[in-house]
This record gives sequence, structure tokens and C-alpha cells, in this order.
Amino acid sequence: MTESQVFGRILDRAGRADPYPLYAELRKTPVAALDDGSYVVSTYREIVALLHDPRVSSDRRNLAEHFADREPAPPGRAPAFIVVDPPEHDRLRGLAMRHFGPPGSPDLVTGLRPELTAIVTELIDAIAGDRRADIVEAVAYPFPVTVICRILGVPREDEPRFHAWSTEIVESFGPGDDHVAQRVRRRERAAEALGDYVRGLADARRRDPGRDLLSGLLTDDGPDGGMSMEEVVSTVTLLLVAGHETTVNLIANGMLTLLRHPEVLERMRHEPGLVVGVVEELLRYEPPVHFPATRVALDDITIGDTTIPRGAPIVLALAAGNRDPDHVRAPERFDPCREANEHLGFGGGVHYCFGAPLARLEAQTALAELTRRLRDPRLVTDPPPYRPSSALRGPRRLLVDYDGVD
Ligand code: HEM
Repeated sequence: MTESQVFGRILDRAGRADPYPLYAELRKTPVAALDDGSYVVSTYREIVALLHDPRVSSDRRNLAEHFADREPAPPGRAPAFIVVDPPEHDRLRGLAMRHFGPPGSPDLVTGLRPELTAIVTELIDAIAGDRRADIVEAVAYPFPVTVICRILGVPREDEPRFHAWSTEIVESFGPGDDHVAQRVRRRERAAEALGDYVRGLADARRRDPGRDLLSGLLTDDGPDGGMSMEEVVSTVTLLLVAGHETTVNLIANGMLTLLRHPEVLERMRHEPGLVVGVVEELLRYEPPVHFPATRVALDDITIGDTTIPRGAPIVLALAAGNRDPDHVRAPERFDPCREANEHLGFGGGVHYCFGAPLARLEAQTALAELTRRLRDPRLVTDPPPYRPSSALRGPRRLLVDYDGVD
């Protein structure tokens, strides 16, 4: 198989349940030139180098002209900081961080701990009378959504309105599975609709600010000036989408992995502290983000004997790097007690995940409570059905049988 064929199979929905053998195939060529002119990087060392390389841009406006139709710049909107380079990126991320707590800092997140546990408890109580539940629908999805809505100041009851837009936007990130122009058009429509919704909320908060992040961004002048209205809208939209579409997969992938490793699940019941290592290992072994936003080479970049030409799209295969045997011992083994576990689950470099402390705590809380409370949980279907996206990978449904709830 050529590298393009391997990559084509990775994007194909049919292989979504287990792309890992294909990633091993891909790693044989650490920097692979695909037939469409883009490059896929799949080994740990090379991915890390590119995540930290200033010649690599996250801004699609830098794509060479013949690629521009696949990623046109959104007309008239301020791009979100995930697709902007420094120094603009750092200004916007810095302003948002003032209302979120710096990465690694437990500030906001520790304060949220009791509230998070209360939300999960309520969700598990709701399935206490049943003997079978879809863990995605019951806990993995509603939990992070409720949390991010509270933090941002977005009414939880509006969720059905923006759920579909959010999914549409996210599915368009990373390499596409279907016709590019069609995908871009759908994303643009969804982004427009979600942006209009957030703009409406922002208008209301500007008149009547609350204690939420949206109000904070609108009223904060920052040390060097605040955000424009359009920047607030794109930042809140980004956080809403990121908070919606990623942690759900970590919790669902987590429950699936634990049910496939009953010895770990059993240990967790007696050793609650084990959940920290479990979540960290999940971010390596079954990460929610397989491909982050497509990068662009700002210059010719030579790695080994391959040169990525200026303007070419670069796909970073984070999940392939996570299982690179040159980086981690026995990469195919799920081992929550690994001593060193440097993974790419949250990316790296300037775009390292903004929500990492929150995501970790959410996943720890949900998995700790689910394993503690569900009596003798069993998978109904293995593998479960998956969501279509190859970039943000996780089960669409996760049916579990159990003998009651403690
Ligand atoms: C960026 C993963 C949860 C907000 C990223 C990136 C990854 C990632 C891989 C890098 C993207 C890139 O380099 O293009 C995850 C995972 C999560 C998670 C696996 C859950 C398990 C969250 C949550 C939030 C969030 C809950 C919001 C509160 C962001 C933002 C960025 C980002 C704003 C862009 C950062 C920047 O460009 O500087 N995330 N994320 N993430 N994440 Fe997360």
C-alpha cells in the first residue's frame, strides 16, 4: 500500500474502531508525502519538533494558492485563536486565560471540584433504576456540556439549538472524509449560525454582565486593551465547541477501555487515586484528538530526506505518535502505572490545550464515579458504533449492562 492508500484507509469510517495497525504502517514513513500535496507526520519526535517549530503555522490563510479552496478564510469574522499564529494568538489566548486560570494551575479547576462531582452524581442517579444505559447519552456528553455552559455563561437549555452546529464545525477539523468544498460550505454555515447565537448572548451580557467568562471577556480591558466584540464571539464559540466535543470522547473512550481491562477497573474500585494515571494513559492510548487543526509550512522544511514545501498542508497524526515504539515502551499496552508518560493527547507548543486542567478533572471525576457506582458493568457491543470523525474519535453510543447503582 502507498502512504496515500494507508491514509485513505485511516480516514475511512469502516476502520474507525481500530486505526492503530494503520498508524503503525504510517510510521514506517515518518513524513509521508500524499498524492494531494499534503504531508502526514506520524512519529513522536517529528511531531513534537513541528509543534514547536515557528515555521509551522496554524493559520490556513498561509496555504499555497492551489490549496486555498479547501480551507478558505472565513469572510468577515475574527478567526479563533486555535487557527491564528503568535503574536495575535498569544494576545487572544492571554486575555481568555485571565478568566480561566493558566494551564496547569488548579485555580479555577479545584474550585469546581465539588460542583463537578454533584453534576456527575445527579446524572448517574438518573440511571439508577435501569439495568442498561448508553454511557455517552447518560454521562459522557451531558456532563462536560453542562460544565462548559456554566463556565461560559451559556444557558444550558439552549443546548439542543447549538449541538448540531458545534458537531458540524468540529467534524470539519483535521483531514476530511468527504468532498472538501462541501465540507467547508457546511462548516461555514454552522459557524455563521453558532456565531450569531453567541453574538446575541454577548449583546445581552454587555448590557447586564454576570460572573461568567463571556461577561469577563466583554468587560475586561486587559493590560494592553481588551477583545473586540468579534474576538469575544470567536473565542467563546471556540471554547463552547472545544468543551463540547472532546471530553465526551475521553470519558467514553475511557469507559470502553476500562471495560476491556476489567483488572484495572477492579483495582480502581479499591484505589481511587489510580484514576489520575488512568486518565493520563487514556490520553496516550485512546486520545480523543487524533489530528489537530491542519498546519501549514511557512518555509521549505526539511526533515530527514523529505522537504515539505512552503504553503503545503501538514497533518500531525498525534495518536500515531502516542504509540511510537521509539518513544514509549510496549505502546500497545494500556498501563495506567507508566512512570514516564509524555503524550500528545493535548497537543504541544503554543497551541497546547487551553482546557487541559478542566478536561483532566472532568474525566477523572466521571470515570471515578462510574467505576465506583455501577455494579458489575458489562459492554453490550464491542466495538461500539463510532462517531464519523477521524480527527475527533470516540463512540457514538456506549451501551453498558449493570446490576444496579451504588
Ligand atoms: C487545543 C485536546 C478539552 C479548549 C487543543 C489541542 C488538543 C486538545 C490536541 C491542540 C490543537 C492544535 O494544536 O491545533 C483536548 C482534549 C480534551 C480537550 C483531548 C478533552 C479531553 C478541552 C476543553 C476546552 C478546550 C474542555 C475548553 C475549556 C481548547 C482550546 C484550544 C485547545 C481553546 C486551542 C488552544 C490554542 O490554540 O492556543 N485541545 N482538549 N479543550 N483546546 Fe483542548
